Amino acid sequence: MRTQVGIVGAGPAGLTLARLLEVAGIESVVLEDRSRDYVEHRIRAGVLEQGTVELLRDAGVGERMDREGIVHHGINLQFDGERHYVPLTELSGGRSIVIYGQTEVVKDLVAARLDSGLPLLFEVEDVRVQELDSERPRISFTREGAANELECDVVAGCDGFHGVCRPSIPAGVLSTFDREYPFAWLGILAEVAPSIDELVYAHHERGFALLSLRSPQLSRYYVQCRPDEPLDGWPDERIWQELQARTALEGWTLHEGPVLEKGITGMRSFVVEPMRYGRLFLAGDAAHIVPATGAKGLNLAIADVRVLAEAIADWYATGRETGLESYSSTCLRRVWRAEHFSSWMTSMLHKLDGDDPFDERLQLSQLRYVTSSRAAATSLAENYVGLTTL
Ligand code: FAD
Ligand code: PHB
Repeated sequence: MRTQVGIVGAGPAGLTLARLLEVAGIESVVLEDRSRDYVEHRIRAGVLEQGTVELLRDAGVGERMDREGIVHHGINLQFDGERHYVPLTELSGGRSIVIYGQTEVVKDLVAARLDSGLPLLFEVEDVRVQELDSERPRISFTREGAANELECDVVAGCDGFHGVCRPSIPAGVLSTFDREYPFAWLGILAEVAPSIDELVYAHHERGFALLSLRSPQLSRYYVQCRPDEPLDGWPDERIWQELQARTALEGWTLHEGPVLEKGITGMRSFVVEPMRYGRLFLAGDAAHIVPATGAKGLNLAIADVRVLAEAIADWYATGRETGLESYSSTCLRRVWRAEHFSSWMTSMLHKLDGDDPFDERLQLSQLRYVTSSRAAATSLAENYVGLTTL
């Protein structure tokens, strides 16, 4: 088999890249080791920046998102028993965010790819990327018991944090920047109308909590927990108890409902530089991870592949490699801004290790500042909705 761009991974990065290349008239093959059902139901992110929304719409995959996505113009920060509204749209020159689950983005992209009759192979095994420093990189894989080889011009490593592409880069090429946080999020999807209109990020002495949503009938709620805690230590009653305690407010009620799904997500910051080795380009979680507090992971993955698709299209059209050469440095500017913002939001809102009262006072002071100073709130707002000037 031969193609122009071999894409490893059918998450948001790989599927969006395939779509952007299709629009630009460039062939690709997408290889995914999980089943279609699995990738379409993996519950993860829910906040789309306006730039992400516009890209999906321009790529012709925004129709259902425009119908079912819920536009939000602000978020709430809760601390010290009070809830403060941060008017994102007002502070960011009219930009907003859209609540639309990653599962839905993935379903729309998979449907569009299959409708176009283009290759998207699920449940492939033993994926290996080879000869990355040559002009003919190859991807070998097994499918339905048979060995296959895909010859490409370019390989896109969109296979997430635990994929095969990043570890295939020879030792010594990449610099790694890594930070693990001593806490995690326990997330639930509950079959109950959200008790809030817009997101609530709550700082509390018992630990952080986040109230989010997926639809008018589905709530998505999180509580801070320890990263090593077994899920069975968290029966539904305990989760609701913690959510109630951490988000309580006079005159407001958090409504409970059946828990449809629950899971624990670790918090980590991670970046490799550069995001390229020869003809292999890393995009999304394969190259970087942010703690979820800034809602940036999915948006960064899409921002990467926008840059990559443009660079590849320019290379085919003109033979110039300038876009491919600047791919990594262009992406890393946005990546590091998101790393800083996510790490800042995380350290401002979570109960920190050691329970140091000095740290808690600093957090509360910072929260008071961002909710009372227009300058500080504007900084939060422009980062949250996604910077356009990077
Ligand atoms: P992925 O979505 O990880 O996609 C990679 C794909 O590659 C997967 O389909 C995987 O199966 C496939 N793959 C892996 N190895 C191979 C292989 N060897 N061969 C072929 N295919 C392979 N971000 C937010 O903004 N908000 C959130 O609330 C949030 N919650 C999250 C919860 C969890 C549990 C996790 C893990 C992440 C969360 N994130 C969140 C981050 C966000 O979901 C990711 O940043 C986003 O999925 C990145 O997309 P991606 O396409 O780069 O990687
Ligand atoms: C979510 O809805 O899953 C969500 C929202 C905001 C975040 C993280 C996750 O910061």
